[in-house]
Amino acid sequence: MTSGNWQVASSYRRFVANEGAPLYDGSALEDLNTLPLQEWERRGGRVAYTRLGEQENINLQVVEIPPRGELKPEHHLYESVMYVLQGRGATTIWQEGEPKQTVEWEENALLAIPLNAWHQEFNSSSDEPCRVVFGTNMAHVINLYHNLDFVFANPFSFQDRYSHSRQRFFVDAGSQLNLRLFETNFIPDIKNFLLDPYPERGKRTSVMRLCMASASLSLHIAEISPGTYMTAHKHGPGAHVLCVGGEGYELLFMPGEQSRRRVALNPTAVVSPRRNEYHQHFNTGSEPLRMLAFKEQGYSSKYGTGKSYQPALSAQDKDPNAEIFQISYEKEDPEISAEYYRELESKGITLRLPPLNQGGH
Ligand SMILES: [Fe+2]
Repeated sequence: MTSGNWQVASSYRRFVANEGAPLYDGSALEDLNTLPLQEWERRGGRVAYTRLGEQENINLQVVEIPPRGELKPEHHLYESVMYVLQGRGATTIWQEGEPKQTVEWEENALLAIPLNAWHQEFNSSSDEPCRVVFGTNMAHVINLYHNLDFVFANPFSFQDRYSHSRQRFFVDAGSQLNLRLFETNFIPDIKNFLLDPYPERGKRTSVMRLCMASASLSLHIAEISPGTYMTAHKHGPGAHVLCVGGEGYELLFMPGEQSRRRVALNPTAVVSPRRNEYHQHFNTGSEPLRMLAFKEQGYSSKYGTGKSYQPALSAQDKDPNAEIFQISYEKEDPEISAEYYRELESKGITLRLPPLNQGGH
């Protein structure tokens, strides 16, 4: 180590290296379905991890299970929600000393793993691999405690979050807690999950925040109608936005930067902007562009953390140096809308602009 370098590898990075797994960084990955993975000795199957958005609070764990294969069971003190990228299978979940419950799933399902409960995944297909992604706060928890026995071998049973006595835990559809906030533990197909309109962000945007398995990890599903794009905006790092339906593209740029990075948005692309990095979603298809977001605790949870999104939102458009800021359509580089119009024209998609004042994740 040179005298000027105070940086040490994080516990999360050392954990990933010990797993023998690739660690992907940057602001986006174009296709989780084809992301190269490595053999995974600890649980079986193949695995990769992410460190997107230059942060280590929220990370993704991408896992593939071979045909008729299974992963070894595990439990852990980080929160985890599984989204099925391709294939079909089942997860068995139980608390130590209690009977098991099994949830069957297929592509586009979303399943919460209750905190520190045992879970084991199976591939039900005899000839196709299945691939899932876990959105987790693993990186944060491993860095915080830097003791893998504590994280992966802790006997505490969170009965307040899940127990076998709650027989319908993964069966009930759930219930609406509030406007744009739904509590559920399993969604068989998030592409058909009903969202609430979000007129504050534009009449053609809809959103549902999710509270799953009493986690403080935040999630939401958002949708942008055809012929529409969101304003460029920036906020703190950690949000991971996964395209689950439709087609479009994402523009990413730092403040003052003339050149913009463009990422194709097709199902299983993921975008996780860095701190201060502007990002902007564009729908170029004839179907709604639907996205699933994993975020750090705070804004969407049933359990308050003292954070409030609203004051930050109302400050938008006032101070470009604020952590949360959006560029209105009127003030954006005209080439941004020109590029979008050309794209729609070439695909024969009807323009639904002039745009409304949209923004957000
Ligand atoms: Fe965002």
